[in-house]
Amino acid sequence: MTIQDQPAVVLNDGRPMPQFGLGVFQTPPEITAEIVRKAVDLGYRAVDTAAAYRNEEGVGEALDGREDIFVTTKLWNADHGFDEALRAFEESARKLRRDRLDLYLIHWPRPRLNRYVASWRALIRLKNEGRSRSIGVSNFNRDHLERMIGETGVTPAVNQIELHPRFQQRALRAFHEQHGIRTESWSPLGRGQLLSDPAIVSIAAKHGKTPAQVVIRWHLENGLIVIPKTVRPERLRENIGALGFRLDDDDMRRIDALDSPDGRIGPDPATAAF
Ligand SMILES: NC(=O)c1ccc[n+]([C@@H]2O[C@H](COP(=O)([O-])OP(=O)(O)OC[C@H]3O[C@@H](n4cnc5c(N)ncnc54)[C@H](OP(=O)(O)O)[C@@H]3O)[C@@H](O)[C@H]2O)c1
Repeated sequence: MTIQDQPAVVLNDGRPMPQFGLGVFQTPPEITAEIVRKAVDLGYRAVDTAAAYRNEEGVGEALDGREDIFVTTKLWNADHGFDEALRAFEESARKLRRDRLDLYLIHWPRPRLNRYVASWRALIRLKNEGRSRSIGVSNFNRDHLERMIGETGVTPAVNQIELHPRFQQRALRAFHEQHGIRTESWSPLGRGQLLSDPAIVSIAAKHGKTPAQVVIRWHLENGLIVIPKTVRPERLRENIGALGFRLDDDDMRRIDALDSPDGRIGPDPATAAF
């Protein structure tokens, strides 16, 4: 499979981003290079890492400066602030063995620290200097986005948020759409818990696909960017296999019905203790 065969979205800065990629949260640093190499061999064209995952070096080793793979990394909570963010970016770029990154995100807003606007000004500089081709945020709520955009006049290209069939984030997605922000789904498989849901299992049987492929397909057909994580080669292959089929309207309606107000798995950005 070549990158031309893969779906891409166009970000609000005009740059393309692959809609499907590999997430490496909790991928052990010592096997990250091997997993990323396997993924690239299978056709993956995007990798999502973060300073906090402690495996940027493994990603860098596997890609060894390749610019045809879209690399996202994230500013960690301890590095908020203008100068701090610029320094943290240099460290990440060094570990990733790239002069320019494709997408740099603020990992969490940390509203109580109240420095995310200063961090965002640093990311705006990195974008203007061409060091990060695109910039965005993660785990930002509507009020964080409104303040940041209001104070700087610069809208993030992406907001990466927890999103899966049990937690569909419809209100925030609608806000993103109004403002030209692309939504990227983290924990897109609900960390695997979703995959035994009877509706997902029956849709998978109907198409001769696996539950994970059905869930990844649901993200893609909703226009979401999706970055499932696995450390198993057979699942790397399975997950990218979601690129090759379609769900019908009835399937989409059945999955849409799984949304639940209690479906969140990770921390709530408004109340996260860190
Ligand atoms: N911005 C943020 O704050 C944030 C937070 C969380 C995640 N993320 C990003 O989003 C990525 C994905 O989220 P995630 O890792 O939390 O969860 P996920 O991708 O929803 O699920 C990963 C889990 O599902 C299993 N799995 C993967 N493929 C499978 C398949 N085909 N069949 C059955 N089980 C499968 C994996 O196990 P094995 O590895 O054993 O296969 C792992 O336990 C992360 O890697 C990271 O890049 C970002």
